[in-house]
Amino acid sequence: FVFTMATVEELKLRVRELENELIKCKQKQYHVTFMLLMSKCELVYFLTLICMNFVLQMFVQKIRTFTVAVVGVGGVGSVTAEMLTRCGIGKLLLFDYDKVELANMNRLFFQPHQAGLSKVEAAEHTLRNINPDVSFETHNYNITTMENFTHFMDRISHGGLEEGKPVDLVLSCVDNFEARMAINTACNELGQIWMESGVSENAVSGHIQLIIPGETACFACAPPLVVAANIDEKTLKREGVCAASLPTTMGVVAGLLVQNVLKYLLKFGTVSYYLGYNAMQDFFPTMAMKANPQCNDRYCRRQQEEYKKQEAERPKVKVVEVEEEVVHEDNEWGIELVSEVTDAELQAASGSVPDLPEGITVAYTIPAKVSVVYSVKDIYSNV
Ligand SMILES: *[C@@H]1O[C@H](CO)[C@@H](O)[C@H](O)[C@H]1NC(C)=O
Ligand SMILES: *[C@@H]1O[C@H](CO)[C@@H](O)[C@H](O)[C@H]1NC(C)=O
Ligand SMILES: [Zn+2]
Repeated sequence: FVFTMATVEELKLRVRELENELIKCKQKQYHVTFMLLMSKCELVYFLTLICMNFVLQMFVQKIRTFTVAVVGVGGVGSVTAEMLTRCGIGKLLLFDYDKVELANMNRLFFQPHQAGLSKVEAAEHTLRNINPDVSFETHNYNITTMENFTHFMDRISHGGLEEGKPVDLVLSCVDNFEARMAINTACNELGQIWMESGVSENAVSGHIQLIIPGETACFACAPPLVVAANIDEKTLKREGVCAASLPTTMGVVAGLLVQNVLKYLLKFGTVSYYLGYNAMQDFFPTMAMKANPQCNDRYCRRQQEEYKKQEAERPKVKVVEVEEEVVHEDNEWGIELVSEVTDAELQAASGSVPDLPEGITVAYTIPAKVSVVYSVKDIYSNV
C-alpha cells in the first residue's frame, strides 16, 4: 500500500474522528467491527498510533510509581530533575545547599530572576509549574555535615512515594569529591542503588556510572578512573576560581543519565554501568567494574559479602534475557512491533552494506520490498 489516496493531514483528521468513535465503544467486539470499517491504509496508520500510545501510556503509568532523589541541583542536576518531571516521575527529592547565581546563567534551567533564591526552592517552583502531578520534597542543606548527613540517610531510606519506603534511585549530580563520598557512604550503608554523574572541570568530558552496592565498584572501590577525574574538583569550588562550564556538555550528561534512569526503572534496553562522554572526539567509552574486595568502605565490603551469599544461593539456572517482549505484554490488541533489523536480516537485505568498523552498524537498510510495519497477530482471536 502507499499513502497516495490521502495526505497525512487528512489521515490524521480521519484518525481523530475514528479515535473519538472508539472512545464511545468499550467492547472488544465492537473494536474489530470498527476496524473492518477502515481502509487498509487507515488501519495501519491507526494501529501505529495505538501502538505508540500503548507504549507511552505504559511508560507513563509505570514511571509515576517511582521516587528519585537528585543530590546537587546544578548544571546537570537541574536538567535531570526537569527531564524526570516531564516524564512524569512520581516523586522527586532535591538536595542542594547552594543559591542560584547570575554567574551561572550560561547553564540551562535557572533564570536570572531566580538569582539569590536557594536552588531547591527555585527548582521546585519551576518544576511544579511544569508538572503539578509530581510530588516534591526539597532540602536546602549541605549533606556532608554530620547532622544533615543523618537526615539525608533518613530521607533516602524513608522518603519514597509511600512514606516510610526507600527511594527507588539516588542520583549524584554534585560537583565535588566530599559530597560524592557522602552519597557513596550513605548508599553503601543502606544498600541503596545509585547513579553517579560528572562533568570535567574543562567542560569537555563527562560520565555516568551505575553503582549497585556489593556488586559493582562503589566510589571508594575504584580510585584510578573515577576518583582521578575528580581530584581537581576540590579546587574547583575555591572562592574566585571559576571552572569552565558548557550547557552542551551538561545537557548531554544529564540526557545520558536520565536515559539510563529510565532504562533501569522501566526495564528496557541495556543499562550502562559506566558510560563516558568525550566531547573532543565524540567518544563514548563503556565498561563495567566489579566491586573491590579491599575497598576502604566497610559497608561496601559488607554488601559484597551479602551479594556473594545471594549469588551462591541463587539456583544455577541460566537467565534467559527477554527484553523486547516486555513492552507489549499488556497489549490487548495483539499488535506486535516488528523487531529491529537483525544481523542476519541485514546480510540478507538488498542494497550494499558498507564495510564498517567493529561496533558500528547501519541504522537500517532498504528492504527488497516494502513490508507491512505491524503483524496484526491474533487480532480476531479473542472475539
Ligand atoms: C559542607 O560541609 C562540610 C563539612 O562540614 C564542609 O567541609 C564544607 O566546606 C561544606 N561546604 C559548603 C559549601 O559549605
Ligand atoms: C543541617 O545542618 C545545619 C547546620 O549544621 C543545622 O542547623 C540544620 O538544622 C540541619 N538540618 C537538618 C534537617 O538536619
Ligand atoms: Zn567499594
